Amino acid sequence: MKVLATRRYPGPAFEELGDVEVAPLAAREDVEALIVANEPVDAALFPSLRLVANFGVGYDRLGVEELRRRGVAVTNTPGVLDAATADLTLALILAVRRCVVEGDRRVRAGEWTGSWADGFLAEELTGSTLGIVGLGRIGQAVARRAAGFDVRLLYAQRRRNDAALADYRELDELLAESDIVTIHAPLTPETRGLLDTRRLSLLRDGACLVNTARGEIVDEEALVAELVSGRISAGLDVFAHEPNVPDELVSLPNVVLTPHLGSATRQAREAMTRIVVDNVLAYERGQELLTPVAG
Ligand code: 8YV
Repeated sequence: MKVLATRRYPGPAFEELGDVEVAPLAAREDVEALIVANEPVDAALFPSLRLVANFGVGYDRLGVEELRRRGVAVTNTPGVLDAATADLTLALILAVRRCVVEGDRRVRAGEWTGSWADGFLAEELTGSTLGIVGLGRIGQAVARRAAGFDVRLLYAQRRRNDAALADYRELDELLAESDIVTIHAPLTPETRGLLDTRRLSLLRDGACLVNTARGEIVDEEALVAELVSGRISAGLDVFAHEPNVPDELVSLPNVVLTPHLGSATRQAREAMTRIVVDNVLAYERGQELLTPVAG
């Protein structure tokens, strides 16, 4: 089976692919399987295409509807990046709440002159209320980790999960009641712009918003306005127009910025490649796909 991959994906599993070519997504008659990292696939360019194996759990940019219409199977990589993404979420929460990055900047700028950080007091994570938007695999991994910090856990989700590790709230209530809000929902037509101007205004003064999901879930312009005003703080790993980050955010002390690092650990990325490769090999052998994207 002729496989085209948009890059050499990390880890030893990639070497198990037979006829794989690393090239950009340009028109090809012979390609039957594509390996992409949530890049838009124009199915018209690949008349022989039968499988798209996405390196990533989120497949919002692929154009899944059109691929399905053409009978192309799609797979993703759920599960193996939950720990990495949840760890980064806690890192961002702690970095923002404890002013780790701003503290680092002050030390490097030679602004640490007293014997201790006079007048530079942070907020504790311990004892705070953490609101989780989307209590799926990643949201639950965040909840389990956060429980160790003695936080009060709330969650909002379209489908209520009564066996949950957290107390259910309607989204608006969760936003108004939380000290920290963290987003773990997929980007879908329903979640695009979910945190709009009105909803962002429900956040408490001094609240912290963390996003390791997708930038488009939040109205970025409205978020920038809230952050520039200094009313809230944020830890942002994702943005509406990656890799562009709004200029206004770059100099703000109340924001910690990372470049879409959620799954960027050796362990997670190698395991993602393993799943991608196993799906391609399963398809080639006529076996059931391991992680098809549910229709
Ligand atoms: C990837 C991600 O880096 O899995 C996801 O949904 O956002 C990240 O793991 C990105 O999608 C590229 O594949």
